[in-house]
Amino acid sequence: MNILVIGSGGREHAIAWSLAKSARPDVRLFCAPGNGGIAQLAECIAIEATDTHALARFAGEKRIDLTIVGGEAPLAAGIVDLFESRGLAITGAGQSAARLESSKAFAKDFMARHGIPTARYRIAASAEEAIGILRSGEFGDENASVVVKADGLAGGKGVVVAPSRTQAEAAIKDLMIEGSVGAEAARRVVIEETLVGREASLLLFADGKDYSLMPTARDHKRIGENDTGPNTGGMGVVTEDGVLDEETLRHVVREIVEPTLEGARLDGFEFRGVLFIGLMLTTDGARVLEYNVRFGDPETQAILVRLQSDLIDIFEATTRGTLSQIPVRWSDEASACVVLAARGYPARPETGAHIEGLDRAATHKDVQIFHAGTKRTAEGVWLTAGGRVLGVTASAETLDHALQHCYNAVKEIHWDGMQYRRDIGKNSGQ
Ligand code: AMP
Ligand code: GLY
Repeated sequence: MNILVIGSGGREHAIAWSLAKSARPDVRLFCAPGNGGIAQLAECIAIEATDTHALARFAGEKRIDLTIVGGEAPLAAGIVDLFESRGLAITGAGQSAARLESSKAFAKDFMARHGIPTARYRIAASAEEAIGILRSGEFGDENASVVVKADGLAGGKGVVVAPSRTQAEAAIKDLMIEGSVGAEAARRVVIEETLVGREASLLLFADGKDYSLMPTARDHKRIGENDTGPNTGGMGVVTEDGVLDEETLRHVVREIVEPTLEGARLDGFEFRGVLFIGLMLTTDGARVLEYNVRFGDPETQAILVRLQSDLIDIFEATTRGTLSQIPVRWSDEASACVVLAARGYPARPETGAHIEGLDRAATHKDVQIFHAGTKRTAEGVWLTAGGRVLGVTASAETLDHALQHCYNAVKEIHWDGMQYRRDIGKNSGQ
């Protein structure tokens, strides 16, 4: 069986690693474009994740039996629709469903239409309109915190939690006039009330009819310990039962998960693939912060080390609508992923540093080291090749043990400028 994974991060390495454990005979993995770590499991193909036509050509020529999409950009560009129109099996959200992530305004209106709890919001189509909304006072006075979000995909840089009206107005100007995330993504902005609480990530597989929840995760977004400094793509993540207690989870399923999948059906786009719901657990109950129509990075690393079922079976079932017929089992453990990043990340990461100790760390049998941005030279030397470089991941009976395994392996690894947080799993995680 030939399988193609699209993407090049730690998430895709974890997906490839999990696929490679399949009990099926003759599995051949390809990854486009992949990275140094993925190249140890799959044949890496030099096609960019967003070059959907070249990917479809490749999948046709290589007789790929199933394609798995890691990131949001190809999904938003309609890769699933394109593959399906050519009779190629692919798992992931179609372009209509991908709007839940690719347009925050669409997602907010979707939630309003289907009664899904989320922060109060307004959509503005110009900086003038946005500033007018702020000055009207409907989100509080000039000292009130408010959130400004670019409507479109902005690689995680389009959301500003502004502590005052002055800063919110500055964020609007940055996004809509200065074009800090590109003109297209910020043609519109969403203005939201600021919610307060702990965050949690709930991911699920869906096949258009049924769904299956994954273990709940909590990520750590800020670069610095004690949740300080700028936001990143994620510096670490943990999964454990305590992230959402049973009662809250039941509530979230009833008030959020099922209305979301039902709403998608009612709106004419059945959801298939992986849905990631970012939640804020407020004193008034859980609220949706955002939808992602794909696995998270690094959530995937910590989630998939707990998967006990065959990931090929699961992905195949999401494309065939047969999820209810297969087991999706998770270990009863907790897990953690500690991200090692390059100097300068997230603003201007340095690349090309020599990574030492990777082979030694890889011998720790309790951990999996997923590569996010690495390259291997012809001489076998590992170099950094991205902002986030490695995701050191472990599962164990308790979260403390999982973290210990991770940090023991981290001690083996070194490069000039390596940075990581020593407090993953230790605080609220922002
Ligand atoms: P999003 O991409 O919409 O999830 O936003 C990224 C991050 O910004 C979230 O994970 C939260 O930490 C923060 N955020 C987004 N919306 C809100 C909100 N309404 N209130 C407080 N924080 C928010
Ligand atoms: N870690 C957050 C994301 O993948 O969007």
